[in-house]
Amino acid sequence: MIRAESVGYSYKETVALRDVSFALPAGQTLAVVGPSGCGKTTLLSLIAGLLEPATGRLTVAGQPINPRRPGTSLIMQDYGLLPWKTVRENAALGLIIRGLPRDRADQALAEIGIRELGDRWPHQLSGGQRQRVAIARSLALDPDLLLMDEPFSALDALTREEMQDTLLSIWQRHGTTMVLVTHSITEAVYLGHQIMVLSPRPGQVVGHFQNPSVGDRRSRAYHELVNNVRDALEKGVAQHG
Ligand SMILES: Nc1ncnc2c1ncn2[C@@H]1O[C@H](COP(=O)(O)OP(=O)(O)OP(=O)(O)O)[C@@H](O)[C@H]1O
Ligand SMILES: [Mg+2]
Repeated sequence: MIRAESVGYSYKETVALRDVSFALPAGQTLAVVGPSGCGKTTLLSLIAGLLEPATGRLTVAGQPINPRRPGTSLIMQDYGLLPWKTVRENAALGLIIRGLPRDRADQALAEIGIRELGDRWPHQLSGGQRQRVAIARSLALDPDLLLMDEPFSALDALTREEMQDTLLSIWQRHGTTMVLVTHSITEAVYLGHQIMVLSPRPGQVVGHFQNPSVGDRRSRAYHELVNNVRDALEKGVAQHG
């Protein structure tokens, strides 16, 4: 679904990403971890086609990146809910923009367990509920590629684990290819079939792990991988920080 070959990106003189390569098969999840400012959001923006790589090659489903690709859905770091629209209207926003029927928004709200909140306003929701609205908005569009930028960072530990499980069940039901940016090593290992570790800016790949034990928080393999990812992060900071 995604192929990156030596992708680099700079904002004028600020080099944000350098020589990033990976391949993500359809139906798999990729978790990206790295220190603040290392280029994670930049990488998602590139995959979404909002930025063009300065160097290297990046394709999605075999095609050059394109911001109008209908199957790609991006959930930004701040959820992007409009305060003057109800939950139902917020969830339908992507459908309205694309001229599609709105009833899929109700289905998506039901699937994510907040259908009864449809008439509320965003300020009447908890952080976890707002996050669910943002995910429902994306799901309503039936994406084949879901890009998420630190979706759970504002949540308390228990709600966060609940949302991780929700995401996992969405993946199990739809087989959606996902890229998840996170600061949390344990979240990356719980949710990523692949885990890519970036160094401090300019982000370079300092570790890349395959993870056979997705969806398992207790096994030995899970704890070993958490340690390996932590080692890679620390080594990246020591060598490039
Ligand atoms: N529009 C911009 N113009 C100039 N520099 C930018 C711009 N956007 C981001 N940067 C810089 O590029 C680097 C990478 O930014 P990016 O937002 O991708 O980091 P990040 O890994 O997502 O960080 P965080 O974990 O804090 O969200 C940072 O050093 C940032 O200051
Ligand atoms: Mg970011």
